[in-house]
Amino acid sequence: MRLAVLVSGTGSLLEAMQSADLPIVCVLADRPCRGLELAAEAGIPAVLVERDDWGSGIDRVAYAHNVVEALAAHDVDLIAMAGFGTVLGSPVFDAYAGRIINTHPSLLPSFPGWHAVRAALDFGVKVTGCTIHVATEEVDSGPILAQEAVTVADDDTEATLHERIKVIERRLYIETLQDIHARGRVLETQLTA
Ligand code: GRF
Repeated sequence: MRLAVLVSGTGSLLEAMQSADLPIVCVLADRPCRGLELAAEAGIPAVLVERDDWGSGIDRVAYAHNVVEALAAHDVDLIAMAGFGTVLGSPVFDAYAGRIINTHPSLLPSFPGWHAVRAALDFGVKVTGCTIHVATEEVDSGPILAQEAVTVADDDTEATLHERIKVIERRLYIETLQDIHARGRVLETQLTA
């Protein structure tokens, strides 16, 4: 397995993947972020495919082409999104169909979108959690691979709840990726031809 990890933020999931010795061959980010620094420190190729537009006017297809081109240079066969903040266009999903994994901080299909933890708190749910799933062009859908529940505390803030969810993600995402590694496939999709 040759794994690419896509990041935008603090990179704590990436850090957990590195500690678990997953075969990461490159880390790609859409903005300068700690994840790129972690990769560089570990001697893993760190690739910045910066967006030229931070608004809704972004050309998602063109951006996705740039991502595919950058990943091709590293002979990637599995992509793990780990807090990646750009919605990707179809070229990535065409090139890596069935081989893109994402983790989302809610129990999908509840609370899709970038502010999942805040939305769950605002709704007043007593239980939320995280979902590891195959990513498809439609955001936060796609076949579910693993889920785990997290109880919401009365005094939770978005930050405290998200951190408790991330503790679970750091284990569950790694277990799921290790399972894919061992099987050489994601559901029915082979990693390599
Ligand atoms: C995770 O909660 C993930 O589900 C969400 O972004 C967070 C990434 O955390 N999409 P980090 O940047 O790895 O700390």
